[in-house]
Amino acid sequence: MAHLSGPSIRFARVADDPVLSRLDRDTWSTLHAVQPRDEPPYRPFFDESHPPRNHLVAELDGRVAGYIRLGFPTPLASNAHVRQIRGLTVSPDARGRGVGRALVDAAVEEARRQGARRITLRVLGHNAPARALYESAGFVVEGVQPEEFYLNGEYVDDVLMGRRL
Ligand SMILES: CC(C)(COP(=O)(O)OP(=O)(O)OC[C@H]1O[C@@H](n2cnc3c(N)ncnc32)[C@H](O)[C@@H]1OP(=O)(O)O)[C@@H](O)C(=O)NCCC(=O)NCCS
Repeated sequence: MAHLSGPSIRFARVADDPVLSRLDRDTWSTLHAVQPRDEPPYRPFFDESHPPRNHLVAELDGRVAGYIRLGFPTPLASNAHVRQIRGLTVSPDARGRGVGRALVDAAVEEARRQGARRITLRVLGHNAPARALYESAGFVVEGVQPEEFYLNGEYVDDVLMGRRL
């Protein structure tokens, strides 16, 4: 069936917890995850350090299609002018339809609305889809930590990206 409208973006709410938790588990892959696959009992998606207000959710055709987590790189006052993208996932059946781009653009806009000066992120060197998305949203590579992670039998670079707001 044709998709008549693009994604719509809203802040997350507590009721999204099971859907987002499931999305994370179902999409786990060493393409983007540095933590081992989650095992039961599963922790809630939201907690004190990750409240709903730090997440934007995309809906496509009335269903949650992805989320982005926006936070601070560190708790330091001297670093408070920077925001960091700390998670981004789009449901596999919704990929390639502009959901990731809409989430990144919305996070950039929200960081700007909060008065931040810069936004940064970390992406694995082998994650070509995410790197292309971030580059097309104005992020540039600001540093590379070579072979920072050992995943699935291979050393993988950690790529630091950022942009001014
Ligand atoms: C990366 C991800 C979020 C992209 O989401 P998406 O909704 O498919 O992306 P979009 O449809 O908005 O595409 C936007 C741009 O991303 C890039 N992109 C998306 N999928 C791509 C792919 N398979 N290969 C290369 N580039 C790709 C392209 O530049 C694309 O722009 P274009 O359509 O004009 O070519 C999605 O693939 C995902 O959830 N991956 C697993 C989790 C992950 O890697 N998260 C990032 C952690 S840092």
